[in-house]
Amino acid sequence: MLRHALGSCAGTTLIPMPDTDPLVRSSVRLYYHPEAERLAIYWADRFVLEPAKATSGADSEFSLWAIGDHLELRRPGEKQGLWMRAADLDRRARGGPELLRACGLSGQVGEFVGVRVLDAMAGWGLDGLLLARMGCSLVMVEKHPIVHALLEDFARRVDLPAVHAYCGDGFAWLDGSQTFDVIYLDPMFPERRKRALPGKRMQYLAALAKEDPRSINRWLEAGLGNASGRVVLKRRLRDPEVAVPDWQITGRTVRYDVYRGQARAQARQ
Ligand SMILES: C[S@@+](CC[C@H](N)C(=O)[O-])C[C@H]1O[C@@H](n2cnc3c(N)ncnc32)[C@H](O)[C@@H]1O
Repeated sequence: MLRHALGSCAGTTLIPMPDTDPLVRSSVRLYYHPEAERLAIYWADRFVLEPAKATSGADSEFSLWAIGDHLELRRPGEKQGLWMRAADLDRRARGGPELLRACGLSGQVGEFVGVRVLDAMAGWGLDGLLLARMGCSLVMVEKHPIVHALLEDFARRVDLPAVHAYCGDGFAWLDGSQTFDVIYLDPMFPERRKRALPGKRMQYLAALAKEDPRSINRWLEAGLGNASGRVVLKRRLRDPEVAVPDWQITGRTVRYDVYRGQARAQARQ
């Protein structure tokens, strides 16, 4: 029952996995501070875990912490882990309008009601929720259960209408059974030697999430067949093009290759 109490916050629709299908039967540890016991019980239920009262955290791997109103991810010994805040969305919006331009969603916040967007590799959900803030309806799919947990927790706190967060394979949404106006693909970039250490969000993603085994070309083709508007593929600035895009939007370090979708628009319900 707790999962429903937490999952149905006014406005945001978060569709939980069925009761019989927990996120992962894993050994990930979940700690909580006393004020966040309810949140901890919800996530313990989703992960099939026993929540433990906070200790010094002598784990060898990542652990989840329910603290205050949020869930956070910590490395061994860390006092402050990673979690996304609504302010991170503001920062992202200020930091680069390129994503919104690439997706055809530049304008006033809330202006694009009725535009259907699929973020098939949603990660922490920052890009997806930035799009949702423009008013569109958004399906976010993230494969890694722990990344998904942080994403779902973030979406619950941001509390936008018409946001659906799923844990699973985003490619399964490109099976022709429904179309989207915009399909956004942000695959993991292959690792490369870097001079500077990337930010915490990227470090944690690199440690947890894996590149999808399918080629980007396959994702693009499948995306085109399911997009009535456009497919937006995020690339590093100097990465080769997967196919010649219809247009490109370039930022300081990344590039958005935009392709016209090939699906016929579905009637809106
Ligand atoms: C670069 S990150 C996305 C970052 C995201 N745009 C954000 O704003 O945080 C790519 C994500 O795709 C996820 N992923 C990889 N293959 C996937 C798949 N087949 N289905 C769903 N998610 C997948 C990875 O686990 C990773 O979290």
